[in-house]
Amino acid sequence: MKPMDLFSPLTLGNYPLPNRIVMAPMTRSRSDYQGVPSPLAAEYYSSRSDAGLLITEGVAPSASGLGYARTPGLYSPDQIAAWRGVTDAVHAKGGRIFAQIMHVGRIAHSANRTIPDAPVAPSAIRAAGQMWTDAQGLQPNDLPRALELSEIPAVIEEFAQATRNALTAGFDGVELHAASGYLPNQFLSSGANQRTDAYGGSIENRIRFVVEALQAMIAAAGSAGKVGIKVSPGMNFNDIQFPDSLPTYVALANAIAPFGLAYLHVMRAGIGAETTLREAYKGTYLVGGGYLKAEGNQLLENGGADAIVFGTPYLANPDLVKRFQLDAPLNEADKSTFYTPGAKGYTDYPTLA
Ligand SMILES: Cc1cc2nc3c(=O)[nH]c(=O)nc-3n(C[C@H](O)[C@H](O)[C@H](O)COP(=O)(O)O)c2cc1C
Repeated sequence: MKPMDLFSPLTLGNYPLPNRIVMAPMTRSRSDYQGVPSPLAAEYYSSRSDAGLLITEGVAPSASGLGYARTPGLYSPDQIAAWRGVTDAVHAKGGRIFAQIMHVGRIAHSANRTIPDAPVAPSAIRAAGQMWTDAQGLQPNDLPRALELSEIPAVIEEFAQATRNALTAGFDGVELHAASGYLPNQFLSSGANQRTDAYGGSIENRIRFVVEALQAMIAAAGSAGKVGIKVSPGMNFNDIQFPDSLPTYVALANAIAPFGLAYLHVMRAGIGAETTLREAYKGTYLVGGGYLKAEGNQLLENGGADAIVFGTPYLANPDLVKRFQLDAPLNEADKSTFYTPGAKGYTDYPTLA
């Protein structure tokens, strides 16, 4: 029998995938200042429709959840209409696309926001670091306001509403962004979360927000097979202080395993968590972070994952599936255009002749 590889089909949630190559969620900062995706987004995503699954850049569920310059949302009619153009283009080419729901929490600056309210977070602790604003250049992250216990259900409802909006926009499903130091990751972490109520302190309490957000998203989607989640154990990005994080992630994996999600997506960050969580979590399992074809195939063959998530290689190679098939060389990604407006570095990476 042929060993499992990137070109083996896979059933993921409600969907049969033709291969195990997944496009990673990547913020590209081409939206307008109201969070409406650029008209170029349809071309950008649909030119990658032969992936097993496309996951969009992080998309804010609410104006409160938006913190970066020129990033999209899924809460206004204009945003939903623009995303419909993207999903239609992907589906016309036979692809599947999930929207990554990303609430930034404390990783935000007022110059990038459309509302005057301070960003919200588990605790009123400013994240070290700076972010880009078009109006004022690099700025420190804003000081967030701690969510009142009574406000948390409404924030969770934002994730549910964004899920409904994603389906209205034609997405095949949604991914909860619980990685990279954004709001759900802030709740998980013992540094950013200093709460003394039911959402802070013990492991059981720190995973509560993520578990409840997922439950709300599943209910909104009407099927767990349309909902995935991304985590990044060991990643300190965005000032996440989280020593000894693995037991929290194992507890989370155990808590969500019965849900029957489309997948758990783990970004590897050097602590070997992807191996531990593979054992803890019995459902469909995606791993990303620094993979190319050979190492991806090896992980699949060893049973370390069910599909491989490619970020930078996919950013720079719209025809990544074909290049992997042919063992063709890959375009290099140009970091200088990761987050700049317009087509350059977005829709102009060459495909094979
Ligand atoms: C330009 C860029 C933007 C990114 N934006 C996001 C994002 O919005 N959401 C997310 O979960 N990860 C984001 N990531 C991380 C990727 O999803 C992925 O985990 C990471 O790039 C590692 O995979 P790679 O080595 O294949 O690039 C981003 C990465 C890049 C390069």
